[in-house]
Amino acid sequence: MLAFGNLRVGLRPYRVCARTNSSSRGRLLPEASYNRAMSTHTIVLQPSGFACEAGEDTSILHAFEAAGIELPNSCRNGTCRTCICRVRSGEAAHRIEWPGLSFDEKREGYILACVAVARSELVIEAPVARRIVWGD
Ligand code: FES
Repeated sequence: MLAFGNLRVGLRPYRVCARTNSSSRGRLLPEASYNRAMSTHTIVLQPSGFACEAGEDTSILHAFEAAGIELPNSCRNGTCRTCICRVRSGEAAHRIEWPGLSFDEKREGYILACVAVARSELVIEAPVARRIVWGD
């Protein structure tokens, strides 16, 4: 854990997991449920099968980047909607009160990965995910 004034930054270990398949529909938790005990969950992307583990204090976008998987993103603050994806199974919550999603989109399971965190094991539709290739 690093501390910069009042800001604390911590990295958790991540590992890439085996590919899995799931077709059940997920649900979103209200944003207010974000503040609770932390634990680690496995998140799987469909259709790629890429997976990682993330603590409940780590955004889904950041967790995948730490595991070497890139999701589309731009603003990284829940405004631009570039990182929109859909929860197929499991529970997720947003870290901000008003993410850039409509009520209907939230009800249909859409999340913004840059400000969303896992609340359980998750399967997410993210068709544009790709492995990060670092230069030589
Ligand atoms: S990157 Fe802009 S809303 Fe997620």
